Amino acid sequence: MQRKVNSLEYHRDTLFVQRCISANCRTEYKIADRLYVCSRCGGLLDIERDDAFDTTQMRELWRQRRSSADTRDRSGVWRFREFLPFAHDDPIVSLGEGNTPLYDAPRSANYCRLPQLKLKHQGCNPTGSFKDTGMTSAVTQARKLGARLVVCASTGNTAASLAAYAARADLVCAILVPAGQVSHAKLAQALDYGAKVLEIDGNFDACMNTIRELSENDSIYLVNSINPFRIEGQKTVAFELAEQLEWRVPDHLVMPGGNLGNSSAFGKGFRELLEIGLIDRQPKITVVQAEGAAPFARFALTSDADFINEEHPKTLASAIKIGAPVSWQKAWRAVRETGGSVITVTEQEIADAKAMIGRDGIGCEPASATTVAGIRKLVREGVIKEDETVVAVLTGHILKDTDYVIKYHNGTLTAPENEQITGTFSNSPVRVAASRDAIAALLL
Ligand code: F0G
Repeated sequence: MQRKVNSLEYHRDTLFVQRCISANCRTEYKIADRLYVCSRCGGLLDIERDDAFDTTQMRELWRQRRSSADTRDRSGVWRFREFLPFAHDDPIVSLGEGNTPLYDAPRSANYCRLPQLKLKHQGCNPTGSFKDTGMTSAVTQARKLGARLVVCASTGNTAASLAAYAARADLVCAILVPAGQVSHAKLAQALDYGAKVLEIDGNFDACMNTIRELSENDSIYLVNSINPFRIEGQKTVAFELAEQLEWRVPDHLVMPGGNLGNSSAFGKGFRELLEIGLIDRQPKITVVQAEGAAPFARFALTSDADFINEEHPKTLASAIKIGAPVSWQKAWRAVRETGGSVITVTEQEIADAKAMIGRDGIGCEPASATTVAGIRKLVREGVIKEDETVVAVLTGHILKDTDYVIKYHNGTLTAPENEQITGTFSNSPVRVAASRDAIAALLL
């Protein structure tokens, strides 16, 4: 049943369900059921939509909403609400997330030996990372369910994002972070937004295990990306990217991999776009991990074997220092379905790629730079061809980890195995007297 109510609303009876992704289970649950994983087999859950759309009308509507004054229309996530498992008049928790830029990056392209490279900068979200696109939907769901306490484990960005959205929703929020392993900027955000920050002796994986046990308690709502409502918000970035490219998808889409929610979400977004005919193929999704924290890349080499966690993940890209990614099955589905790959890059490659992204006037945090490092490697190996279109997803803002940046540029950045990182593109400050002549001598 379709009924066009006004120019910016597309009303229809849409049915959403939650379903286990495991091929021999596929148990279905109601959308209002408060679950993180399948109660029967423990498998991950997908949210599925059951209807068909007039795609021409949809594209026009989404475009029109960009110039509307309504909060839902202005959000780059809620603009695509026909694909989100909420009623049209549900009150939402939004900070104006999404609508992030897609940049041309000529210097990074040249560094990768490509004629062109585009960077989708998810660091331009309200709290400086892609997490906001999923947090708006997860916290909206938390409020809908009447949750009072929302929680997550985090390497820093999820924490900052949840803290902000919980503050907007007036919910109590607690975050578990590995003590001493989160950048000051991310910690500062969580503190300022009023979250209860609990520092754990152990790594991210220990935080994740503990918080999963804790959230078996019904008064606690977990919003890590194991929660399918997080993935729903994050998948809209695929819609936004396809729209920015006038519905022609790139040959390759490259992103960092940590807990593997982001790659799962992009996979789901592009699959849904293909199903309704808004695109005619999916981009090959490639996930890049840091060499010292690469359980998914190792699994991809022997995909019929069991997934083996990395017990002691090590990387300076602290956002992706993760050894037991909770969403690996969904991410693997995205990589396999699209014909992509999973690769690793070294600490030196990440550091140099990051500096190169900076030279394009764009910048990002270390984890995001795995993408350009990975693309360079794939071009060298002939996996990415010169005439193919490539988009890299930058997941976090440059100001998320300034300590790393300063150390790279002054030559004191040291990798986890005490290996010194060379400042290949370093740019150190120069101390100079406050005199016109001294400064002119340096500059002219
Ligand atoms: N890039 C950044 C900047 C991140 O913060 C993360 C994850 C990733 C990439 C990896 O994305 O987990 O979806 O594969 N950060 C999480 C956090 C783990 O707690 O902030 P993923």
